[in-house]
Amino acid sequence: MKGLRFVGTGRCVPEKVVTNDDLSRLVDTSDEWIRTRTGIARRHFSQGETAVELCTAAARIALERAGIAPSEIGVCVVATCTPDCASPSNACLVQAALGLPEDIPCFDLAAGCTGFVYGLETVRGLLTVSGKKYALLIGCEQLSRVLDMTDRSTCVLFGDGAGAAVLALEERMWYAWLGSRGNRDVLWLNGPGPETTHLHMDGPGVYRFAVEALPACARTLLAGSGLALEDIRWIVPHQANRRIIETAAKRLNCPIDRFYQNMERYGNTSAASVPIALDEMAEQGLLQPGDRVMAIAFGAGLTWGGALFEW
Ligand code: UT7
Repeated sequence: MKGLRFVGTGRCVPEKVVTNDDLSRLVDTSDEWIRTRTGIARRHFSQGETAVELCTAAARIALERAGIAPSEIGVCVVATCTPDCASPSNACLVQAALGLPEDIPCFDLAAGCTGFVYGLETVRGLLTVSGKKYALLIGCEQLSRVLDMTDRSTCVLFGDGAGAAVLALEERMWYAWLGSRGNRDVLWLNGPGPETTHLHMDGPGVYRFAVEALPACARTLLAGSGLALEDIRWIVPHQANRRIIETAAKRLNCPIDRFYQNMERYGNTSAASVPIALDEMAEQGLLQPGDRVMAIAFGAGLTWGGALFEW
């Protein structure tokens, strides 16, 4: 089976930090409510940085850590629902900024917060048919641009950022599963582009979906790969809400300390949340070669899915 190896990762978040207390000066909320209901303490909001700049900065770090030249990249995908403009894609603009080759596909992929996981399986397929070795996959969002800063039920949840990975197609363990349940009612965003209207969400509706989708996806990955939960060193879930992750852990009967969590520092960065988490984990030495990792996510679409791989 040909799978993906993470050769290098990187991340970039905007400089500006927005705390829960900052938001409680804008809407009727409190640090206590946000922390206890979501696990979020702060997030980064863009102030002048473009999404392409965040993508490019994260990608440069990933390439440098991988020791791979831009000329070796065989496909570039940016998972995002908040690109700088509808066209050209963020991926094409990253291609221009990094000097990626011209004989490769570059495009954006919209699968909500599941975008990076969708991207993994997409680049794996494209590398398989092209015979090229390396992919550049980026998850990036600037949700601050589309938040209604008068709506306390959404504006406290999200943050901006980008996470990137250089991936190599190799003979190695890999199992992925992707799903979708077309639905416009619980989470939607018109756009894309700067004129995009606000993000709308039925929070409890997404919550109910997530606590069903995450454990179901994890079980599907385990059944399909023939592995047991004990074989998995880390579960890296989409970082939307601590209570969603705790409920998923309980339903799977899995110790919570095997779930990596960093929503406290970033909020929900949608398609960027899984690659930012992986990059932090790699930086902290939490991921060792051979560790089995399960990345699982859910989001607008509704979409959900996961990938099981060896670090
Ligand atoms: O990446 C995928 C995208 N989205 C998600 O993953 C979101 C999934 N959903 C959630 O994380 C949770 O549903 C929320 C965090 C959005 C909301 O938490 P909840 O426990 O489901 O709260 P709720 O929506 O049921 O609201 C409970 C109360 C309401 O007040 P009343 O009607 O009980 O008086 C809300 O108006 O909390 C109120 N509320 C707030 N209070 C203070 C809602 N937002 C806030 C707020 N501060 N920011």
